[in-house]
Amino acid sequence: MTCKHFGTCGSCGLYELNYQEQLVQKEKRVSALLAPFYTNNLELFDSPDSHYRARSEFRIWHEGERCDYAMGKMPVDGVREKGAISIEECPKVIEPIEKRMWRLLEKINASQEVLKNRLFAVEFLATTTDECLITLLYHRKLDDVWSEEAKKIEAELDCKVMGRSRKQKVILSDEFVTEKLDIDGKTFTYVQYESGFTQPNPTVNVKMIEWAIAQAKKVGHGDFLESYCGLGNFTLPLSHYFDKVLATEISKRSIHAALENCALNNISNITFARLASEEMTEALNGVREFSRLKDIDLDAYNFSTVLVDPPRAGLDAGTIELISGIDNIIYISCNPETLARDLETLTKTHRVMEAAMYDQFPHTEHVESGVFLQKM
Ligand SMILES: C[S@@+](CC[C@H](N)C(=O)[O-])C[C@H]1O[C@@H](n2cnc3c(N)ncnc32)[C@H](O)[C@@H]1O
Repeated sequence: MTCKHFGTCGSCGLYELNYQEQLVQKEKRVSALLAPFYTNNLELFDSPDSHYRARSEFRIWHEGERCDYAMGKMPVDGVREKGAISIEECPKVIEPIEKRMWRLLEKINASQEVLKNRLFAVEFLATTTDECLITLLYHRKLDDVWSEEAKKIEAELDCKVMGRSRKQKVILSDEFVTEKLDIDGKTFTYVQYESGFTQPNPTVNVKMIEWAIAQAKKVGHGDFLESYCGLGNFTLPLSHYFDKVLATEISKRSIHAALENCALNNISNITFARLASEEMTEALNGVREFSRLKDIDLDAYNFSTVLVDPPRAGLDAGTIELISGIDNIIYISCNPETLARDLETLTKTHRVMEAAMYDQFPHTEHVESGVFLQKM
């Protein structure tokens, strides 16, 4: 991918190396961090070099009568610069965003203030099936005149539009998109909400789920536990390889989406519960009772496998102790440093059997990795 803003836009920090060189550099970094626990080669899953991001946020820069998309400036010597640069292209977004974002800007600029006044950011959430939800964020209260104008954008750009301002959310049609992904020979439908977590790179996401399925197939029995399940991204496809599934997540919105997704995909062996990982540990250790779990018989589960996919901070001590009691662990991580830290403890009871790197975030330092551990 080339972009005229490389070197000035803070969004893509890795641009001097070509894509293959970036992958090699990332692989070296992850391999070095995992070396104390795993010395075989990592399995590598690359990304399309351009048009890979299905969600993206742009600031809006106002200059005289006009507004433009903008991004934070590239840090200098590691120090973030104040201000923003205006953006004229962004080849990392998937086509369903790219084909709409510039027409949207024209329409905002042509809207005689209705869409433009105090607009400070635009968020895009799109699917590989060409759905696109556009959220316009304002520092002003939105009224019926705004809604009428925004409805025209929905029709003209064949998309969904939402407006947000302080304590106000205006939904014109829906606040979600519906993604369909072909995973390991089956098609899964996922409702993705604007305010919930979604994996940003659909191509790499499918590779990541298929890698997790390959590990699950090696187990092929027992019950499955998942923490940090989000909208059921891994849960739905992996549920086919286990008897019963218990999946937990802190966000109410994501649990709502997960339940919807379970029904949409006609899956009946999953129970979703809204629990922080720390609460899940308390519940499964019988330390605390939760009214949210009153209809769930936790003693009925016999977990052969657990999957964790925590945020960058990695796992808390209680979760590490809990999962250390389960034979098979699939750990998906968006931060190889905290993964390596957590492996210090997990490898006292388990051995790393497989490790992989998935390039969800090309042209940035970020990298996603995964390990499969089995009890020694
Ligand atoms: C990296 S995302 C992974 C989500 C999901 N596995 C997926 O692939 O879409 C991490 C998820 O952890 C959730 N989360 C954050 N802190 C949590 C906590 N303390 N306990 C449980 N879930 C948490 C977030 O809401 C988010 O959905």
